[in-house]
Amino acid sequence: MPDRKYKYIKIDKQDGITWLTLNRPEKRNAMSPALHEEMDHALFILEDDPDTKVVILRGAGGNFSAGQDLKEFFRENEGKPRQGRKAREEANRWRWERLYNYDKPTICMIEGYCVGGAFMQLLATDFVVAAENATFSLSEVNWGILPGALVSKVVADAVIYRHALWYACLGEPFDGVEAARVGFINLAVPHDKLIAETENLARKLMLKSPRVLRATKQAIRHVRTMDFGQAYDYLAEKGKAIKVGDQEKSYETGLSQFLDKKAYKPVMAPFKLGTMLTDETTKK
Ligand code: ACO
Repeated sequence: MPDRKYKYIKIDKQDGITWLTLNRPEKRNAMSPALHEEMDHALFILEDDPDTKVVILRGAGGNFSAGQDLKEFFRENEGKPRQGRKAREEANRWRWERLYNYDKPTICMIEGYCVGGAFMQLLATDFVVAAENATFSLSEVNWGILPGALVSKVVADAVIYRHALWYACLGEPFDGVEAARVGFINLAVPHDKLIAETENLARKLMLKSPRVLRATKQAIRHVRTMDFGQAYDYLAEKGKAIKVGDQEKSYETGLSQFLDKKAYKPVMAPFKLGTMLTDETTKK
């Protein structure tokens, strides 16, 4: 369990899924420095929390987040360089460094508004499920700033360049269906199915070997910036590293259960966790 009480976020755990909720509904979950500090702390703690297999980010009160808090994050930090730097460091750390490199699978569940600075966590998490009627907006151009921190960068990396220019330069809202079409998110679903579909994805992820899943998401993230030679080498080494400490002995178990026992088909589903071979069997 977290070792402190939080004021602006909530943590709920159920059956391996940890819901991490931005909790300032009266401000549409706009992100204040205090909220950033709490998120940074909570993600740090949850990363090695044994009860947390998957983290789902969401917002309270029917909205994901209205972006940075224009009053508390911007105006009230003007002329206060140290305070501003602390807020920026914490904001950026959880929204990018922590989530992008997170050891466990992460999902964003989006309903209502998802604006501006909230695109950082949107694009840092591994998967995004949104309501078809959610409202996305890169509103920065409408009030005189750039999509800052890393927002311009991660938007330009995530979608084709024409879409990045379109949404950043026009600042117009778009819905979940459009967000899925252009590639900001994985899946847009009817609002009344949002929680069920998001939990369904989380449950599928929990069926995989955690070690293999972690390595796979790291591989996909890191090869994007490698050339072919680097990628061959990295993937070969990563492939060896997966097997070290894989409690499920996924490779040996998978081969044996498919080839010898005819117990499952890897194309259709993973083998059942907890059915790893005994040491004696794997040595054969
Ligand atoms: N920063 C600070 N306060 C905010 C923010 C924000 N980003 N968004 C909403 N709020 C506050 C409002 O000021 C209001 O506070 P009050 O009740 O004390 O007056 C309260 O949240 C409710 O907001 P409303 O505007 O009344 O809610 P509504 O549902 O009508 O509209 C909407 C929601 C569309 C999100 C609107 O609030 C809005 O445009 N907010 C600004 C979004 C934005 O541009 N974010 C910054 C992006 S830039 C960045 O993140 C780097």
